[in-house]
Amino acid sequence: MNRNEIMDVLNFRHSCKVFDDKKKISDVDFEVILEAGRLSPSSMGIEPWKFLVIENQELKNELGAVCWGGKAQMPTCSHLVLYLSRVAKELRFDSNYIDYLVKDVKHLPEDVAPTYKGIMKSIEEVRFKEDNDLEAYASDQVHIALANMMNVAAILGIDSCPIGGIDRKAVEKILVDRGLLDTEEFNITVSAAFGYRVNNPGEKLRQGIDEIVTWIK
Ligand SMILES: Cc1cc2nc3c(=O)[nH]c(=O)nc-3n(C[C@H](O)[C@H](O)[C@H](O)COP(=O)(O)O)c2cc1C
Repeated sequence: MNRNEIMDVLNFRHSCKVFDDKKKISDVDFEVILEAGRLSPSSMGIEPWKFLVIENQELKNELGAVCWGGKAQMPTCSHLVLYLSRVAKELRFDSNYIDYLVKDVKHLPEDVAPTYKGIMKSIEEVRFKEDNDLEAYASDQVHIALANMMNVAAILGIDSCPIGGIDRKAVEKILVDRGLLDTEEFNITVSAAFGYRVNNPGEKLRQGIDEIVTWIK
């Protein structure tokens, strides 16, 4: 991809407000979008995310009805992703999840694993004594996956809309009632709709580069 093509992709991506409900994203394209989430960076490599991918129309309608930020996007999109983030007790240095991550995902040698967990422990003691702080940190990581997925979608010519305007309690109830969420393990962080636009977006309005960048040479 050359520089102009990259700029075209950056300008193509916008927060799409209504999708063409007749157009579905292909499985092969959506797999690449999910890989963009899976391969995203996260602090200490904690990968605190889980992606609930919803194609079911009834569920998309139900969620759209309780999410003020996604009233039109959720029912019309092709794929709706709910981004879950692990709760604090799952992310503590001595949790089963971190143990699994260290052993089964990162394959850290037995003499290195305690060092990794020790670093996590000291960070927790200094920065994340409160569960809320640890969960906010996990949510920050989940938003990195969200951004990567929207940008990769744009490369594929697929539109998206990040949706933070969700009624978390109402969404939680809908998912728990359907057996789709265990609140002992995960919080709902944010969501995003993916599909194809109906309307062309307006001009992209942003601050100038000189207003947001300071060079130190
Ligand atoms: C974390 C996050 C949450 C957002 N929540 C909503 C939302 O609930 N509904 C919506 O229509 N747009 C939402 N947006 C989109 C922003 O309003 C949009 O990115 C911003 O106005 C810039 O416009 P653009 O994305 O079209 O370039 C959200 C964006 C982010 C990053």
